[in-house]
Amino acid sequence: MVNGFLLVLLWGMIAAQEPDVIYLTWIKDPATTMTIQWHTAAGRGPTQVVYHPEENLSWVSVEGKSTQVSGTQVDMHIVHLEGLKEDGLVVFKIGEGPTEYRFRTLPKTLKRPVRLAVGGDIFYPGKMELFRKMNRVVASQDPDVVVLGGDLAYTTNRKKNLFKGLKWKMARWQTFLRELHQMRGKDGRLIPLLPVVGNHDVDEKAKLFYDLFAFPEAGKAYRMFDAGNYLSLALLDTGHSHPVGGEQTTWLEKNLRERQNTPYLWCAYHVAAYPSYYPYEGEVSQQIRTNWVPLFEKYGVKWAFEHHNHRFKRSYPIKEGKVDPQGVIYLGDGSWGVPPRPAVDPDKRWYLERSESINACYFVTLSQESCKVEARNLEGVLID
Ligand SMILES: [Fe+2]
Repeated sequence: MVNGFLLVLLWGMIAAQEPDVIYLTWIKDPATTMTIQWHTAAGRGPTQVVYHPEENLSWVSVEGKSTQVSGTQVDMHIVHLEGLKEDGLVVFKIGEGPTEYRFRTLPKTLKRPVRLAVGGDIFYPGKMELFRKMNRVVASQDPDVVVLGGDLAYTTNRKKNLFKGLKWKMARWQTFLRELHQMRGKDGRLIPLLPVVGNHDVDEKAKLFYDLFAFPEAGKAYRMFDAGNYLSLALLDTGHSHPVGGEQTTWLEKNLRERQNTPYLWCAYHVAAYPSYYPYEGEVSQQIRTNWVPLFEKYGVKWAFEHHNHRFKRSYPIKEGKVDPQGVIYLGDGSWGVPPRPAVDPDKRWYLERSESINACYFVTLSQESCKVEARNLEGVLID
């Protein structure tokens, strides 16, 4: 009887060490670092991570930083691991917790294929089954990293959420992160997430997005993601926290110019320059076409991943406002877990080669010889 009581007590102590949600991202070199974040009840959590490279079994302990998310009973913990081996599997545990997790760093060169998944408009209210189904498709493609193209959990800017408080928003973000935690690579490893900000992620008052996700510069979701010598991805903010023009455009020009010789140079952002549902004349779409598109064309961006329209699309290559084989291809259009929207135009828009009312995500495989871009639907079937 006493033994049983002790067992329950022991189990309770171990369980208290296990965090509520765990997620990974990169804010520095993806070949040698990893940023690990997790949540616990306020004042309850282990604040350190222990880890070892898969081939070397001695644990290294790293102390993290903890902050109570303002207005909630949740502590957000963060640890940056540095000096990791490129293209290596790493085993880690949160505190003394019993569970071992794994992640993999990226290679510095394309000595093995690197896979990315890209999709946006993800965890739509009342559509958990779409979200989970696409998460399984993404996991089945075994990506090294997933770009989340904005409108992640639909916590802001919906009339229905107007009177919902911080507690509801936090719970919804945690559900979102718990579901993505289940989305594992083939070897069971956690897949790092690169979030992009969308119109349903932030508003004037709701800054939870910036409390929950780490960025190279706090409070700024636009940044460059550079992988070795082969890939540079500009992750941009289509006016949700920072205006399209001005400072962000100046920053973009500088960063694209510096990377114009990178073999794979792409962009990803939320609102589309070449939308498949919203009007072509939309204010933000026009701002992107005025400020960013000339830079894409000037510095050799091949693809721009766009979202927000809740459809599947691929544009023709476009240069100087016309179809041109030398132009940029716009891929999208934000239909990870949302109900797809119908076609709006009686005639197909001039810039769209494909445009369909279906759920889809993009998958890119980079290798030394080639770069393969595929779109898959909710059944995992190759559609483009
Ligand atoms: Fe959106």
